[in-house]
Amino acid sequence: MKDGHPDPSKLIAKILDSPKYRALGVNPDTLMDLIQQELPKHASEKASLKAVKRKLHNIVAPYLGEPDYNALTESLSDIKDTAVDSDEVRIFCRTVLAQHASTDERLPYLESFYQTLFEATGTPRTLLDLACGLNPFAFPWMDLPISTQYYAYDIIQPRIAFINAFFSHIGLQPLAENRDILASPPTQHADLALFFKEAHRFEKRQPGCNQLFWASLDVDLLAVSLPAHNLSGTHSLIDQHRRLVHQNLPPNIVISEILIQDEIVFLIEEPGGQRHG
Ligand SMILES: C[S@@+](CC[C@H](N)C(=O)[O-])C[C@H]1O[C@@H](n2cnc3c(N)ncnc32)[C@H](O)[C@@H]1O
Repeated sequence: MKDGHPDPSKLIAKILDSPKYRALGVNPDTLMDLIQQELPKHASEKASLKAVKRKLHNIVAPYLGEPDYNALTESLSDIKDTAVDSDEVRIFCRTVLAQHASTDERLPYLESFYQTLFEATGTPRTLLDLACGLNPFAFPWMDLPISTQYYAYDIIQPRIAFINAFFSHIGLQPLAENRDILASPPTQHADLALFFKEAHRFEKRQPGCNQLFWASLDVDLLAVSLPAHNLSGTHSLIDQHRRLVHQNLPPNIVISEILIQDEIVFLIEEPGGQRHG
């Protein structure tokens, strides 16, 4: 930086205290990582701040929807029947899933989505949901035992707290964690990791970053999903997204591609194979 070295923690505080992010509870590690990436690239503090805010907007994607977690947590505590397959729980989960674009799009085919996926992967006992958004609320349609270890990661603290309240409510272990999975990848071993509709955003945050990220995972299978079409549905993104996936991996470890409605899922065998031996 040509005009001195601004204190990163002051920049973080400045952004987290701005009207747009004040109530959101964004993980400060994400900000620190963005600042460390952007500071050396810009000549002034103002330009760095602008670049960090632009990247943060894309990462947090506020336009995809953000529910009122306090109100939802209250409604959750009013649900008397805690069985995961009860109508009450399912109705509640549908309401939650509808509040974020990624999960709302999956709602019409939720059950067949997970049926098709788990037919291909086998039933996971330990599952990582990487950059989970509100996807953990799809658990009632996953048809997995309540003993499943479901680790869910996101960078929005109120979302993580709400997911853990839900997990506890239905009898799952509260294993959701506020963690920037790019800056600090999970080390937890799992049978299967889900990384849904986020790999293309990771490439925007840091081109090529998926390569090291995927290689760092200690999982038997990684399911990366990406949108099959552009937002208006006018053209296919499959070739572009296939290239994205393959260029971040060693050869021959994508064992299948599954097209489920508007999502293409790439199944990757032992993405950290070389690293973990
Ligand atoms: C496009 S949404 C996808 C949500 C979910 N995977 C799905 O398909 O329903 C992206 C989510 O990833 C989270 N996210 C973005 N970058 C992240 C990171 N580095 N670590 C953890 N979560 C992240 C965002 O907060 C957001 O909830």
